[in-house]
Amino acid sequence: MNKTAKDRPMRLVVVGANGRMGRELIRAIAASNNVQLVGAVARPDSAWIGHDSGEMVGIGGNGITLVGEDPLSVFLQADGVVDFTTPAATSVFASLAAQAGIVHIIGTTGLSAHDEETIRAASSRTAIVKSGNMSLGVNLLAALVKQAAQRLRAQDFDIEIVEMHHRRKLDAPSGTALLLGEEAAKGRGVVLDDVSVRGRDGITGKRASGTIGFASLRGGTVVGEHQVIFAGEGERLILSHSAEHRYIYASGAIKAALWARSRPPGLYSMLDVLDFNH
Ligand SMILES: NC(=O)c1ccc[n+]([C@@H]2O[C@H](COP(=O)([O-])OP(=O)(O)OC[C@H]3O[C@@H](n4cnc5c(N)ncnc54)[C@H](OP(=O)(O)O)[C@@H]3O)[C@@H](O)[C@H]2O)c1
Repeated sequence: MNKTAKDRPMRLVVVGANGRMGRELIRAIAASNNVQLVGAVARPDSAWIGHDSGEMVGIGGNGITLVGEDPLSVFLQADGVVDFTTPAATSVFASLAAQAGIVHIIGTTGLSAHDEETIRAASSRTAIVKSGNMSLGVNLLAALVKQAAQRLRAQDFDIEIVEMHHRRKLDAPSGTALLLGEEAAKGRGVVLDDVSVRGRDGITGKRASGTIGFASLRGGTVVGEHQVIFAGEGERLILSHSAEHRYIYASGAIKAALWARSRPPGLYSMLDVLDFNH
């Protein structure tokens, strides 16, 4: 019997291939039988252009060299693109992935409202999975946070979200902290933007009931620590997650790509991929 396109490994391009997550993805794709690396894209002026991506990540030559110019021609040879880059780059890649008609997995955080709009527009033409955190554990945490926020009433329990990341992280609060905040807000039946308090300094006055506070710590090489604190009269419930290795995000992104392969155009999240949205 002839093999259909769906039977063969999914062909993936990694953009931002020389980044921390890009390298992790190249290793994770090499370790999976279900996906195959067919392209590695870096900035056009990157010193890594022309280098073998497998050698770059220490797994031996894989014949896929890093390219910088004309990502669309690389996308046209693939079934999906995995993107942990920057908001500006992700907006461009969203339009190109839609043009090529391939799945776009977006892990990039710090996206502006304008970037989100570009991504939403692209999702009318192809399946996009976007999540501030691709790990199984954090997405389960998000579902638990929503449930706890539903049960612990705003007048009784204050919600504070604390995160810590490595010193090179560019955005704050982390995409994961915002994702957890969104789920807490959903649990309370409110819109996060209406209730979020981003950091405190000086004479802030009393805490307003029903708000969701964020605090961001930066330092060292911390991969990702998140705590959602429900603080009530005489008791606190703390739900937390510790990421020990970036591999958890890379394997989640691959899972998302395989899931999205058979989906109609649309904007999906990891909660959809893991079926935690029910
Ligand atoms: N959703 C999740 O589960 C998750 C997990 C971890 C990280 N993240 C997010 O993923 C993003 C990347 O994180 P990271 O730690 O891997 O950062 P990083 O090490 O700085 O990697 C970003 C990469 O994107 C490249 N890049 C930027 N603009 C580009 C362009 N126009 N074309 C091609 N490549 C381009 C950068 O190239 P240069 O090196 O040349 O600048 C760099 O290699 C961040 O937004 C981070 O918050 C999300």
